[in-house]
Amino acid sequence: MSAQRLAIVPGDGIGVDVTREVMKILIHLKSRGLALEWKEFDYSADTYLRTGIALPPGGMEELGAFDAIFMGAFGDPRVADMAHAKAILLGARFELDLYVNHRPTKLYAPRLSPLKGVETLDFTIFRENTEGLYAGCGGVFKKGTPDEVATQEEINTRKGVERICRHAFEYAKQKGHTKVLMADKSNVLRFAGDLWQRCFFNLAKEYPGIEASHMFVDALCMQLVKKPQEYQVIVTNNMFGDIITDLAAGLVGGLGVAPSGNYNPQTGRAMFEPVHGSAPKYAGKDVANPAGALLSTALMLEWVGFAKAGEALEKSVAEAIAAGETCKDLGGTLGTAASGDAVLKRLEKAPVS
Ligand code: NAD
Ligand code: IPM
Ligand code: MN
Repeated sequence: MSAQRLAIVPGDGIGVDVTREVMKILIHLKSRGLALEWKEFDYSADTYLRTGIALPPGGMEELGAFDAIFMGAFGDPRVADMAHAKAILLGARFELDLYVNHRPTKLYAPRLSPLKGVETLDFTIFRENTEGLYAGCGGVFKKGTPDEVATQEEINTRKGVERICRHAFEYAKQKGHTKVLMADKSNVLRFAGDLWQRCFFNLAKEYPGIEASHMFVDALCMQLVKKPQEYQVIVTNNMFGDIITDLAAGLVGGLGVAPSGNYNPQTGRAMFEPVHGSAPKYAGKDVANPAGALLSTALMLEWVGFAKAGEALEKSVAEAIAAGETCKDLGGTLGTAASGDAVLKRLEKAPVS
């Protein structure tokens, strides 16, 4: 097999800190014989502020030609409008048509959940990643005057809704799950909600072994806190998915441990990133937990065909967390680098191919 080529974009703030730990893992796996190559890109707020360019012409096509992309995080108080993140992060999701935002939620140690008596949690949220409110449709009128009008429109296409719902059912089928839940706000957002309802329940007929159900997203937020064990696979739109995946991260220890994959199963293009942002106040301070980034790396390894290495990495992260060899946010005392080392030392002993 020819080497799998990865594009690495550390980005801003703690994105740089956690990506350093990802690189330790990739270097180790390559030394163990995994056919991996990578190229690092310094697309970031710093580069943008220095050059005025977030992404050079052809930059996204170049990234898209890799077998997978890893991104750290973006966001910098000096770039108030997030123009660079729009071009790089949202640019990758939209321009590479990575319509699946896959956000697994797993409890790696019971002590991490703020919920009483919860010992295990393992569910998956699929967030539509290429339309909805993120399509950037709308505008301003009479800006700066007392009569100012701002509109932000939500785009829902049949193709877009169908393909993310189908992916949720296909994933459930492949993993042996029995339930898929679609969350929307169709009691109020009638036009979009009606399309989601029809697409979801029509598709459900093709998956007789899977119980398809629906909840309004506000009610789901409450139930995710009260009875999170009820859920297996959840599918929802871009904006609701953004919100409930932070809530889900909170159920299992916080943003430091939440991974994500952005991909298009038809084209094979993919980008992986932790759910968290650049947390500027922790940047460069050896504080950020690399777990979310490392678990995203595990998803990426599986994507590029190194499933055994991906599993071993996830297990190493889980064991380090369970042993308390992790950062403060997950109840440990280690810094970013030492947390990465705690994972690496376990991975060194595990079979990876
Ligand atoms: P954030 O995720 O950066 O941080 C919020 C809080 O979560 C932190 O203060 C910290 O307490 C905790 N946290 C996050 N990551 C952690 C980690 N690895 N280890 C330990 N604790 C961690 O969100 P924010 O403060 O709302 O946003 C900061 C910037 O990041 C903003 O510019 C925002 O737009 C951007 N952002 C980017 C992404 C991304 O690049 N994917 C995601 C979310 C936010
Ligand atoms: C996420 C983030 C991004 C989003 C931001 C940084 C654009 O919050 O990946 O969850 O809203 O999708
Ligand atoms: Mn988010």
